Amino acid sequence: MYGKEVFDYYNSNRKEGYIYNQAMKEYSTDYDLIISKYDFPDAKIIMDVGGGKGHLLEQIMINNPHIEKGIIFDLPSVIEQAKICLANSDVGKKIEYIKGNFFKNISVRTDVVCVTRVLHDWNDEKAIEILTNIHSSLNDNGRLLIFEMIVPDNPKIDMGITLNFNLLAMAGGKERTLNEFKSILFASGFKIIDTIKGDEIISMLIAEKVDG
Ligand SMILES: C[S@@+](CC[C@H](N)C(=O)[O-])C[C@H]1O[C@@H](n2cnc3c(N)ncnc32)[C@H](O)[C@@H]1O
Repeated sequence: MYGKEVFDYYNSNRKEGYIYNQAMKEYSTDYDLIISKYDFPDAKIIMDVGGGKGHLLEQIMINNPHIEKGIIFDLPSVIEQAKICLANSDVGKKIEYIKGNFFKNISVRTDVVCVTRVLHDWNDEKAIEILTNIHSSLNDNGRLLIFEMIVPDNPKIDMGITLNFNLLAMAGGKERTLNEFKSILFASGFKIIDTIKGDEIISMLIAEKVDG
């Protein structure tokens, strides 16, 4: 309808982009529950790719003071909003902001990458492009943490199935089953080593490099 893809639209229309990013922040409260189930071993530098306004990264840094640096990687307009949002955060001094495009290049090396409600915005081909760029940004023994809904294999009534229509119409994406995650991760050089079920709708998949 607007002649562009959804994130190009939000990136170039500040007012609508602001409303969208604020909605994403409000909708991210179940992250707080799930990160308390994981202790981020060996993480010194952690990056949230497509990290929005930074709520998840801020909570991870507050709960895990051993992490020395956090990086938010997102589109330029979103990074501007994240900087304002985290200006007075207790962990603000440990956070770096990178404006970029995850389809082009993620030009940093880190121990841990989080990617949260990002893969569901894209079809398999595009999701594999994002994961392949993340693979290049991770140290060999690094970990990838995916926070997404996991759709059951044979759902009758499931919120993920309903959300699928929204994602398909808005962005061309979809919620995925565990096997669908395994398949896009395998195609990008990762394997799943653990899955932590959330108390609400989001779960966490922990993956590492196949050749790491
Ligand atoms: C559904 S939101 C999720 C935001 C945040 N991770 C969360 O869970 O609240 C998707 C995010 O991907 C970002 N994004 C979309 N296309 C991007 C691109 N090409 N490069 C970097 N970030 C992008 C958007 O700006 C947005 O912040």
